[in-house]
Amino acid sequence: MRVLITGSRGQVGRVTVDAFRAAGHSVIATDRLPPGFDRDTEPAGVEYRQAELTDAGDCYALVARGVDAVVHIAAIPSPTGNTPATVFRNNLLATFNLIEAAVRFGVPRFVNISSETVPGFFFAERDFLPSYAPVDEEHPIAPQDPYALAKHFGEQLMDAAVARSDIRAISLRPSWVQTPGNYAENLGPQVRDAAVLSPNLWSYIDAFDLADAILLAAESDLTGHEVMYIASPDNVGGRDFAQILREHYGDAIELRDLDRTDASGISSAKAQRLLGWTPRRSWRDYLDEDGRAKPSS
Ligand SMILES: NC(=O)c1ccc[n+]([C@@H]2O[C@H](COP(=O)([O-])OP(=O)(O)OC[C@H]3O[C@@H](n4cnc5c(N)ncnc54)[C@H](O)[C@@H]3O)[C@@H](O)[C@H]2O)c1
Repeated sequence: MRVLITGSRGQVGRVTVDAFRAAGHSVIATDRLPPGFDRDTEPAGVEYRQAELTDAGDCYALVARGVDAVVHIAAIPSPTGNTPATVFRNNLLATFNLIEAAVRFGVPRFVNISSETVPGFFFAERDFLPSYAPVDEEHPIAPQDPYALAKHFGEQLMDAAVARSDIRAISLRPSWVQTPGNYAENLGPQVRDAAVLSPNLWSYIDAFDLADAILLAAESDLTGHEVMYIASPDNVGGRDFAQILREHYGDAIELRDLDRTDASGISSAKAQRLLGWTPRRSWRDYLDEDGRAKPSS
């Protein structure tokens, strides 16, 4: 396939470009950052185009190059470092422009990177808890913040696109993305102490496993628009999930069936079933029992 990958200079984009290249696909990579003069900033064989995705003309120009799939990763990845209006405008308009161009140019497949934050409890201004755990795609949606709202509306843009055209869309909701360079800083404190609470109930996703899921989504024959969580199957710290949930939240969060004792607070069963995705990495590959980086990682 010839695939357009947005956000290619970001942490998820880089590993995704590599995964698509390794699978033999031809990649047009795009980001808002300038191309290197010697074109040595992208892996060999990758075409790079600088583009601003809030500009509809840029999106049309990218998709007009003729692609079999659009993999839309680019976004401001949290509501915390920019003004609310900037986060909302950037993330929603980029998704709108790209899906609009993909529909008009008859692109068959769109992979939309959404977020675990869509149900709303991650960046809420008025805190609330998940209704049940592990959280899955049936969980009620009540986003408050501009980032989760834009991701939620982005999923609705996918619904609208499949309703008005033959495009097939998959929205993936990754958990907190970990790369070899940030496992220790991000997850170390939680590994050391389960009382370091995170609204995503000790879940995370390895960046390479996420790239595998994105690749499978782009190659998938699924029709319509499907939404799927992507989280590593174990929890940060590898603890007994039922026990830590009760210990830290009492009866406030309903405990549902677990497929393993050290289960994640987010279920990716749907992605495993519909995409045949098999996550292969764990925080244990990078961190010791004290949450310190292993010498080899
Ligand atoms: N990092 C996480 O923990 C996490 C978790 C869940 C979902 N996500 C989602 O995964 C995706 C990738 O996140 P990341 O961690 O790689 O972020 P990142 O900031 O490392 O990369 C995002 C890239 O998108 C580009 N970009 C943003 N807006 C753009 C625009 N308007 N036009 C062109 N390029 C633009 C940026 O330049 C950047 O290179 C995002 O959609 C994010 O919302 C991230």
